[in-house]
Amino acid sequence: MKGLKAIVTGAGSGIGRAIALALAKEGVDIALVGGKREEKLKETKELVEKEGAKCEYFAGDLREDKTLEDCYKSAKAFLGGLDVLINNAGLTHNSLLENTEMKVFDDMMAVNVRVPYHLTKVALADLKNSKRASIINIASVVAHSGYAWQSAYSASKHALLGFTKALSAEVYKEGIRVHAVSPGGVFTDMVKISRPDLNPDGMIMPEDVSSAVMFLLKNRTNAVIDEILIHRDGKQPFMV
Ligand SMILES: NC(=O)c1ccc[n+]([C@@H]2O[C@H](COP(=O)([O-])OP(=O)(O)OC[C@H]3O[C@@H](n4cnc5c(N)ncnc54)[C@H](OP(=O)(O)O)[C@@H]3O)[C@@H](O)[C@H]2O)c1
Repeated sequence: MKGLKAIVTGAGSGIGRAIALALAKEGVDIALVGGKREEKLKETKELVEKEGAKCEYFAGDLREDKTLEDCYKSAKAFLGGLDVLINNAGLTHNSLLENTEMKVFDDMMAVNVRVPYHLTKVALADLKNSKRASIINIASVVAHSGYAWQSAYSASKHALLGFTKALSAEVYKEGIRVHAVSPGGVFTDMVKISRPDLNPDGMIMPEDVSSAVMFLLKNRTNAVIDEILIHRDGKQPFMV
């Protein structure tokens, strides 16, 4: 994978940071795109550079169309092309439907669906020029099942999975592989804040998710894996 060029969104923390570090270990050049906490992106950049990889960050709120487009342009100029797009940035929220403000629903749809849709649209022409193009969308087990208190989050991740399926059918003849990775509870800031009831013991770690991402990217054979579903230890198998 050495020399491939990748964009990872929301890589200032959690799963995105773990993916950036895993890519760095393989010698991939990385642009960290999007994220409102610039200091967190800087930390990830420094960690990635310690692995010897080329890295830059482009901070901003990707819900803003112009910010997203400017971040992409700068990232493309830095990388000089694009082989891998990891749509990871995401938001979650826990509340009953009747207590959920429409603003929360709109934010969830904006960050979890509209941003990956828009960024992929902007990046597609460059991915078409790659001989090894992959798009990986970090969905969730809630893209498959419905958990109480997560109606907005679940709706957004179902939509992201639908987008993933349709896009993969649209671009596979052009050699672009599109996958979803759908984890259950991962021990990151997101889950610490939104599900303080979950016991960290036996939870999925960000590195478990980055391993699955690397598996998809490294094993580019005739056997195509559309989606990887990852559930927590302690959950019944196949009960996402
Ligand atoms: N943790 C879990 O249990 C779990 C399970 C399944 C799926 N996932 C998915 O995994 C992905 C990563 O989540 P995580 O667990 O690693 O949580 P996290 O540490 O909170 O990471 C989410 C990242 O998304 C970025 N982000 C949020 N809103 C953004 C916006 N408007 N513009 C640009 N970036 C934005 C955040 O950056 P800033 O805060 O700096 O803006 C942050 O770095 C998400 O898509 C999430 O839905 C998580």
